[in-house]
Amino acid sequence: MGLYGKFVSSLKVALVTGASRGIGLSISQMLVSLGYKVYGISRNPENCNYKNELFHLIACDLSNAKHLDQLLDRIPEKKEISLLIHNAGVAYFSPVEELSSEKIRELVNLHITAPMLLTSQLTRILKQNQGRIVFIGSVAGKEISPWGNVYASLKAGIHHFARELFAELRKFGVKVHLIIPDITKTDFYNR
Ligand SMILES: NC(=O)c1ccc[n+]([C@@H]2O[C@H](COP(=O)([O-])OP(=O)(O)OC[C@H]3O[C@@H](n4cnc5c(N)ncnc54)[C@H](OP(=O)(O)O)[C@@H]3O)[C@@H](O)[C@H]2O)c1
Repeated sequence: MGLYGKFVSSLKVALVTGASRGIGLSISQMLVSLGYKVYGISRNPENCNYKNELFHLIACDLSNAKHLDQLLDRIPEKKEISLLIHNAGVAYFSPVEELSSEKIRELVNLHITAPMLLTSQLTRILKQNQGRIVFIGSVAGKEISPWGNVYASLKAGIHHFARELFAELRKFGVKVHLIIPDITKTDFYNR
C-alpha cells in the first residue's frame, strides 16, 4: 500500500504547520480531499483564501514561546491527532554578520524549537493513535548554500532530529518521514 493509502486507512485528524500557502496549503488540501480534519497553523490565517469545513486555520506565531505553549490547548480534538506535519518555514539570506539577533532567534525558534516541542508534546498521543510525523526539510540542509548559513544549518539539524526520531519511534508504531524538497514554486523566495 502506498503512502496515500496508509494515510486514508488509519488517520483522521492532522496538524499541519505553515498551512496557509505554498507546500503546507497543498498538503492540507490533499488531506482534506482524503477526508482528514486539518488544523493548520499560520501567523496570518486571514491571508488564506482556501475555505473548507474540514480545514481550520489557527493564528499562531511558532517562533513565539507563549504562542507555542498555548497552541495544543486550542485544538479541541488534540487527542485524536494522528498526523503531524512540520512544514512552517521562513529564510533570510545574507552574510551571517548582517543577520540581526532577532532574525537568528526567530529562525532557531521556528525551525528547531517549535518542531521539537510539538513533537515532544504530541508523541504520547501519536503512539496511542499509531500515528505519523512528517518533516519538511530542505536541500539547503545537505549542501553549502550561499548566504543561507543559518537557515541551512537549522534544516540540517532538523534532518538529524527526524532521523533520530525514526529510530526512536519505530518500535512504538509511529512512522517518521523526512521530505527534502529542492526549489519549489511558492512565495518562499519572494519574502
Ligand atoms: N519553496 C522552496 O523552494 C523550498 C525548498 C526547500 C524547502 N522548503 C521548505 O518547505 C517549507 C514550506 O515552504 P513554502 O515554500 O511552502 O513557503 P511559503 O509559501 O512561504 O509558506 C510558508 C508557510 O509557513 C507559515 N509560517 C511562516 N512563519 C511562521 C511562523 N513564525 N509561525 C507560523 N507559521 C509560519 C506561513 O504563514 P504566515 O506567513 O501566515 O505565518 C506559510 O503558511 C519550509 O519549511 C521551507 O523551508 C521550501
